[in-house]
Amino acid sequence: MPKLQRLPEEHIDFAYGIFLLQDSHRLIKALKRRYQPSVHGTRTWGSAFLLMDYLQEHPPAKGRRVMELGCGWGASSVFCAHHFASKVTAVDLDPAVFPFVDVFAEINSVELTNKCSDFTRLTGPLLGQHQLIVGGDICFWDNLVKPLKLLINRAIKNGTKRIVLTDPGRPPFYDLCDQLSKTHEVSLQEWYAIEPDRFVGEVAEIRPRKK
Ligand SMILES: C[S@@+](CC[C@H](N)C(=O)[O-])C[C@H]1O[C@@H](n2cnc3c(N)ncnc32)[C@H](O)[C@@H]1O
Repeated sequence: MPKLQRLPEEHIDFAYGIFLLQDSHRLIKALKRRYQPSVHGTRTWGSAFLLMDYLQEHPPAKGRRVMELGCGWGASSVFCAHHFASKVTAVDLDPAVFPFVDVFAEINSVELTNKCSDFTRLTGPLLGQHQLIVGGDICFWDNLVKPLKLLINRAIKNGTKRIVLTDPGRPPFYDLCDQLSKTHEVSLQEWYAIEPDRFVGEVAEIRPRKK
């Protein structure tokens, strides 16, 4: 069991070494009055904690460039910046998530680069600058499978060595893994997170196929 971390105030979670604000926290209430994310970036999802647990077991080298796709409130980005000193680009198409990302970064004393973009608009050269690309719960509709497959193809073609995606186990996610396995090394495994609560789902590691 980890060391007990006393929380500085109410309505805060401490999970995988980072502070997260609960829905009931006054700052989140204030942000929600001003900004309403509209593509499910409305909380930190269980898949973000799966990603943190998995990366804790399989960490990237320190100081690498990391991109988080569909960052929502940015918890996984904050986790990578905090634990691995990663230089993180947090990407989301919904501009309303970034005030939440900024607050999470601030309370954890990390700096992130925010990028407001659709998956389809991330170019190969930009993707390829990132040694690791991660995403939690980003393939939740059938129409996200193709853009994510093409994005991963572009990233690998331009030099990205590792992509890690987590998901609660929805059909479009399995479809994406299936399609990617035709051209890349894909390992899919069940995983669970234990902080702040137990959450079970899937982790996919995607790497370039060895020639
Ligand atoms: C279910 S939320 C997951 C958020 C975060 N990864 C987490 O686990 O807490 C999905 C996120 O993906 C973003 N998203 C959906 N479609 C996208 C697209 N085409 N391009 C970029 N971001 C997208 C949404 O705005 C939302 O913030």
